[in-house]
Amino acid sequence: MITRGEISGWLKESDAGRLEKLWRMADTARSRSVGDEVHLRGLVEISNYCVRRCTYCGIRSGRGGLRRYRMGMDEILACARQAVEFGYGTIVLQSGEDPGLEAHWVEELTARIKSETPLAVTLCLGERSCEEYAAWRAAGADRYLLKFETSNAELFRRIHPPLHGEGNNRVAVLKRLRELGYEIGSGVMIGIPGQTFEDLANALVLFQRLELDMIGSGPYIPHPDTPLGTETAAHGAAAEQVPNDALTTCKVIALTRLLCPWANIPATTALATIDEVSGLEAGLGCGANVVMPGLTPPEYTGLYDIYPSRERDGRGAAENDAALKQRITAIGRRVGTGRGDASRCTNIRACCEGRMQ
Ligand code: 5AD
Repeated sequence: MITRGEISGWLKESDAGRLEKLWRMADTARSRSVGDEVHLRGLVEISNYCVRRCTYCGIRSGRGGLRRYRMGMDEILACARQAVEFGYGTIVLQSGEDPGLEAHWVEELTARIKSETPLAVTLCLGERSCEEYAAWRAAGADRYLLKFETSNAELFRRIHPPLHGEGNNRVAVLKRLRELGYEIGSGVMIGIPGQTFEDLANALVLFQRLELDMIGSGPYIPHPDTPLGTETAAHGAAAEQVPNDALTTCKVIALTRLLCPWANIPATTALATIDEVSGLEAGLGCGANVVMPGLTPPEYTGLYDIYPSRERDGRGAAENDAALKQRITAIGRRVGTGRGDASRCTNIRACCEGRMQ
C-alpha cells in the first residue's frame, strides 16, 4: 500500500539517490507484472475537427488558421495494414471531438478493421453518447481512451469548458465504458498551470480506484496559439505548482506502475517530445511498457497540432519503425508480439501473490 502522503512525498522528491530507488522499484514491478515486452500501438489521428474549446489544446474549436481534415475510410484502412506489416498488435484511432465522424461510419470502420486485420482497435474519440459507445463495442472495438486530465474538478472545468453546462462526468463515462466490455484507459496532463501536487496525488489514487487497464500521462506542453499557452506564468510561482517537466512525468509513470502494476502504461509521445534524446528510454525505464508510434500519413501530421512538436523530419514510417525497435532492444527490452491486452484479474492475483511470498 502506498499512502496519498507517500505519493505526494515522491512527487516532490529531489534527492537523486532516493529517486534511483523509485525508478528501480517501478522497473521491478513492471518486469514482474507485465514482463519485458514493449507493446507497440499504431496511432492514427483520423480527424482534427473538434467542437471543444479546451484552453490548452491546439486543435480547439475556434482556432483560426488551422486547416481541418478528416481521413477517409480507405486511407485509415491503409494505415491499419501498415500497422500489421510492422507487427503491431493494436491500432489507436484518435481525433478531436468531431460529430462529423458519424456513429455509423465509425461503426463500419471498426468492423472493417476487425474483419480485415487481426488488430485490436482502441478508440480515442472524446465524449460521445452511450448508444454510440455501445454500437462501436458491438462492432468490435476493444478499448476506449478518455483522459480525465486532472482530478481537480474546478481546474478541469476551467481548461475544458463545458459545451452545454454539463459537469465533468469523465469518471462516470469510464465506468460505463467498462460495463460495455471495453478495456478502459485514462490519464492526466502533468504541470497544467494551477495544478497542485495534491491534485496529482489524487489523480494517481483515482487511477488505482478505477482499476484502469491503460494509463497514459504526459507533460503539459504550452501551445502559443491557445489561451492557456499565452497566459503569463501567473501560477508559475506557486510553491504547490506541479512542474511540466520530464522528471515529474517519470515520477508519475513510476508511481502509476506501483499503484496499478497490471496496467499498460505508455511512454507518451508528449514525454518523448519534451526530451527527444532520452524521453522514450526514461519512460520505459521507470515503469512504462507501451509506445504509440505515429502512423498518421505525413500530409496530416502537421495539422494534428495539439501541442508544438517537431515534424518527423521527413523520415518515412518504415524508417521510424526500425529506429524505434532499435531503441527498444538497445535497452534490453523486447518488441511485443500479439495484441498486448491488459489482464487485470490474472495480474492483480499474480501481483498479490508475488507480494505475499
Ligand atoms: N500539452 C500536452 N498534452 C496535450 N494534449 C492536448 N493538448 C496538449 C498540450 N498542450 C493531450 C491531452 C489530450 C491528448 C489528446 O493530447 O492529454 O487528452
